[in-house]
Amino acid sequence: MAITPPSQRNWWKEPIAKVELSWIIIAFTWGLVMFFMMIYWHGAGEQNLSNEAYKIRPEQFAAKTEAMIEAHTVRTESGFPVVRPPAGSDVYLTGRLYNWWPILELEKDQTYRLHLSSTDVQHGFSLQPVNINVQVHPGYDMVVTIKPDRAGEYGIVCNEFCGIGHHLMVGKIYVVE
Ligand code: CUA
Repeated sequence: MAITPPSQRNWWKEPIAKVELSWIIIAFTWGLVMFFMMIYWHGAGEQNLSNEAYKIRPEQFAAKTEAMIEAHTVRTESGFPVVRPPAGSDVYLTGRLYNWWPILELEKDQTYRLHLSSTDVQHGFSLQPVNINVQVHPGYDMVVTIKPDRAGEYGIVCNEFCGIGHHLMVGKIYVVE
């Protein structure tokens, strides 16, 4: 029971005010517009990724990442290998507590198949400043076909809370001419 009950207990039987009805109609119509925009942007939007997902065991994914690091490391940067895989190849990036492993160096205007996975818990791959976001799960290989079109340094942040070091979980991708 409310402390101050309304004088009219059956408030829903009262006639609806015109202004309220107008707002209900506007909000409902706008909701419908936004619903169809989701479908429209799926085809016409510029941020739709060509995601594919496959099952993979975490240790298998880690092994593929290590094999790529072994074959294509060009230098190290504060303890991280900087890997420059050949243009057009499969590129592996592992999300783990608490970093993105390794640092990648990609060529501008070349296409890569970027594989993302985790070897422990769920992480969120968020590429900045372009704001590309992909959920990264252990046991799943998320493949995104990418063609970087601007040279520069891109930051990766983790945008899925994954533990005490979540805010420290950053990574880097270089795009070179
Ligand atoms: Cu990884 Cu938050």
